[in-house]
Amino acid sequence: MDIAIAGGTGVVGAHVSRIAQQRGHAVRTLSRSNGVDVRSGVGLEGALRGADAVIDVLNITTLNEKQATKFFRTTTAALLAAEDRAGVAHHIALSIVGVDRAPHGYYGGKLAQENEISAGAVPWTVLRATQFHEFASQMYARTSLGPVHPVVRMRTQPVAVTEVATRLVELAEGSAQGRSRDLAGPREEDLADMMRAWARHAGRGGWMPRIPMPGEFGRAMRDGLLLPGPDAQRGSETFAQWLSAQPEG
Ligand SMILES: NC(=O)c1ccc[n+]([C@@H]2O[C@H](COP(=O)([O-])OP(=O)(O)OC[C@H]3O[C@@H](n4cnc5c(N)ncnc54)[C@H](OP(=O)(O)O)[C@@H]3O)[C@@H](O)[C@H]2O)c1
Repeated sequence: MDIAIAGGTGVVGAHVSRIAQQRGHAVRTLSRSNGVDVRSGVGLEGALRGADAVIDVLNITTLNEKQATKFFRTTTAALLAAEDRAGVAHHIALSIVGVDRAPHGYYGGKLAQENEISAGAVPWTVLRATQFHEFASQMYARTSLGPVHPVVRMRTQPVAVTEVATRLVELAEGSAQGRSRDLAGPREEDLADMMRAWARHAGRGGWMPRIPMPGEFGRAMRDGLLLPGPDAQRGSETFAQWLSAQPEG
């Protein structure tokens, strides 16, 4: 197959790209660093000509709901319109478990993305996954106040990014199925424990106190609204197994 990967240079996109090539597919990567700006449409038309499927793993780093909603609506609408014109048969997108139970901040943008896709003309599949194991190091970097790294109270069931990427390619190989089964990691973890374990492993210091995040989203994180339901598919790699394979600091 010929698969276009929007955001194919990102954390999950790079794995999707590698795995798709290993499985014998022709791959094109849509990212600004490769001359395609999905948001403005620059380079998009030509980039999709002849593609059988598009996997959308674009991202914007923001917690602001307006910004996230604008980004995901604009990029999804641009992709779907270009796919329609190019005759692309299948649009696959990665979303997050719990976006409908906690549609706030960034998650509000992801829900808007899902709504745009389901209202569109291109046959689609949406995979919701839980946080990646990398979430621990991302939160460590993003929450730095000097040596203090406050950790929001969060129940999470993180999954290996390679397992998510493999699932996305499998979905692209099949026909459109609408919402597919959610994908989560094998066990629940506590975000503060994950961050401390990652910091020890990577040779990073700092004090990582647990803090409650105010507001509805904070409550959703604490109360487990972002955890998978009983029907979710479970990946096999635990956070501890993933961590032990990472370079030590
Ligand atoms: N992180 C998690 O734990 C998690 C869990 C479940 C689902 N997800 C979802 O997975 C998706 C990917 O997340 P990620 O962490 O892999 O993202 P990421 O590492 O931030 O990568 C984002 C990608 O999007 C590209 N991009 C951004 N703006 C663009 C534009 N205007 N035009 C073209 N390309 C653009 C970037 O390339 P350039 O900068 O070169 O343009 C990059 O390839 C997101 O939708 C996220 O919601 C993430």
